[in-house]
Amino acid sequence: MLDRKFVDRIIKFGGILPLETFEDNYVWSIIKNGKIAVIDPGDYEVVSKFIEKYSLELIAILITHHHKDHTAGAERLSKRYNAPVFASKRSKLPFCNNHLIENDIIEFHELDIKLKIIDVPGHTDDHIAFYGKTIKNHKVLFCGDVLFSAGCGRVLENNYIQMFDSLKKLCSLPLSTVIFCAHEYTISNLIWAMDVDKNNRYLQYCYKHAKLLRKHGYPTIPSSIIKESYINPFLRTDYIDIVKSASLHAKIQLKSQIDVFIELRKWKNAS
Ligand SMILES: [Fe+2]
Repeated sequence: MLDRKFVDRIIKFGGILPLETFEDNYVWSIIKNGKIAVIDPGDYEVVSKFIEKYSLELIAILITHHHKDHTAGAERLSKRYNAPVFASKRSKLPFCNNHLIENDIIEFHELDIKLKIIDVPGHTDDHIAFYGKTIKNHKVLFCGDVLFSAGCGRVLENNYIQMFDSLKKLCSLPLSTVIFCAHEYTISNLIWAMDVDKNNRYLQYCYKHAKLLRKHGYPTIPSSIIKESYINPFLRTDYIDIVKSASLHAKIQLKSQIDVFIELRKWKNAS
């Protein structure tokens, strides 16, 4: 549950807020001057209640990928508020009316948003991420289920190489980029990451910090590219400690980064 004063401040001055839904989903909302855009509205009720409570105008719905927990509320929201829905050109969602390809740019002046599309298949074939500048020129990334704090999405519709390439694209963004992923998986990811990267003291600190945040009901997200470059095993497949750990788990010496990535993903799946 977010602090009421913090929410009031965002409504008044603009910013980005998570709307919590289901067990661990975040519908990210960008708010400014009484207008709002939402990313991955899996839950109609949560989003519409928020819009009504603060008398906001919904001007855009952005979809990272087709999974129901990211999209189930989109059609009703679009119809009720007459808001356009943006998704990948490869998306088969019938209610999507704006199809995007890599490097497309979408801009909403009312919200001070300018976002570039990054194609990130792997978790699903239609997965895209939204990267760019928003309120007060902050660099932001809305990456759905591709990159999580200390983890990444499962490889469901494409192959490991495509997922690995998608993660490489994201971690090549500026280090100051703030990451808004779609799930609160941080604690379980960190527990696993500490097993992989046993001597990483910063990882241990992040775990303690995340536990404290969750104890008091705060999200552990957003993260940042720089933070993930220190703690996320999936982005550290060239680090000697990670290669050793993955090789030990595989019971063979892994020779390439993609082999390390595949072993890590299988290890996490089974954890
Ligand atoms: Fe998903």
